[in-house]
Amino acid sequence: MFNETVDRTVVEGEKWGRYKGQDVIPMWVADTDFKAPKSVIDALQKRVEHGVFGYTDVDKETNQAVVDFIKRHYNWQIESSWIVWLPGVVSGMNITCRAIDTQDVITTTPIYPHFIKAPKDANQNVITVPLKEKNNRWTVDFEEFEEAISSTCRLFMLCNPHNPGGTVFTKDELKKFADICVKHDLIVCSDEIHADLILNKNIKHIPIASLNSDILKRTITLLAPSKTYNIAGLQSSYAVIPDVNLRKQFKKTLGSLTSQINLLAITATKTAYSECDEWLYELRKYLKENLDIVKDFVKNEPKIKMLDQDATYLAWIDVSELKLNNPYEYFLSYGIGVSEGDRFGDKNFVRLNFGTTKSLLKEGLKRVKKAIDFLHNPL
Ligand SMILES: Cc1ncc(COP(=O)(O)O)c(C=O)c1O
Repeated sequence: MFNETVDRTVVEGEKWGRYKGQDVIPMWVADTDFKAPKSVIDALQKRVEHGVFGYTDVDKETNQAVVDFIKRHYNWQIESSWIVWLPGVVSGMNITCRAIDTQDVITTTPIYPHFIKAPKDANQNVITVPLKEKNNRWTVDFEEFEEAISSTCRLFMLCNPHNPGGTVFTKDELKKFADICVKHDLIVCSDEIHADLILNKNIKHIPIASLNSDILKRTITLLAPSKTYNIAGLQSSYAVIPDVNLRKQFKKTLGSLTSQINLLAITATKTAYSECDEWLYELRKYLKENLDIVKDFVKNEPKIKMLDQDATYLAWIDVSELKLNNPYEYFLSYGIGVSEGDRFGDKNFVRLNFGTTKSLLKEGLKRVKKAIDFLHNPL
């Protein structure tokens, strides 16, 4: 199913549009080249055939589909009243920064750029704590994290699973984050958009809010079916905010700044969350195989490195030993469009999106190899 090549150049789009007409394989922005599950496509077609697209509220069944999905997959019992619908997780991050009265916001770097941009756009100062390599995975030095919290910081923006590090924080690590946040009276904005894309069978996603009632009360969890079912263009996401006052504060800031999510987003979300578990399990299997292909490739190239990662379809690759002035431009000249590490806070890295067919991934890696080989042997 995931081996099917879908020509994305014949429709509008960010990932393939950037290099339209050029011999470049796009492996950058975080969506996949896979079709959404058939039941989602069928449900959308049925909804379109209805022909009337008037104002549409999110219905009870869709809210219940979210509640059930979260219970089934993360073992977290939420209430539908805790859900605040949003057109994007990035909107949720921006609303959160504006809703929380804080001078400083703390986060870990490298990081998805909106973790830096959202606080800055809200005139807040960003405190960054670098991820540390431990046991061949990216994690956090919790002492350093706690020491970095200023007296004027009230908000921690967590990314779990982590983009671009691919880390799924363990229960123990989440507990440490949670204890520190309770001790320092921080609100947590936990972006868990990649929660369904855990590629290690022995690991489960744990929403930080589900750990205990203290952290539950102070957490805004941001979730979406967009990465999982490749429906980012439909713009469906939501915040889960258990505490009534925090939810009120968030909703007051949200006001009417964004409109209601659109009716196709509602249809797709309801169907994806209630009918597509088997598709999701197959997707994870396929992505795990792709991750292994990337890992084997990197292992055989002594001048590039990546740590173990347990989630996402984004490989965070250290290319510092290649000593390139601009790794992005260099790989582009070999026909491969990766994400610039600089955008995430480290110019010595590139991020490679392996959410594509195996054949395209292998062709992409062949090009990366050619680019690296040329550095050793320029003739
Ligand atoms: C960690 C993270 N948060 C948010 C987003 C974007 O979310 P949305 O498209 O719902 O705004 C991405 C997309 O790559 C992401 O990786």
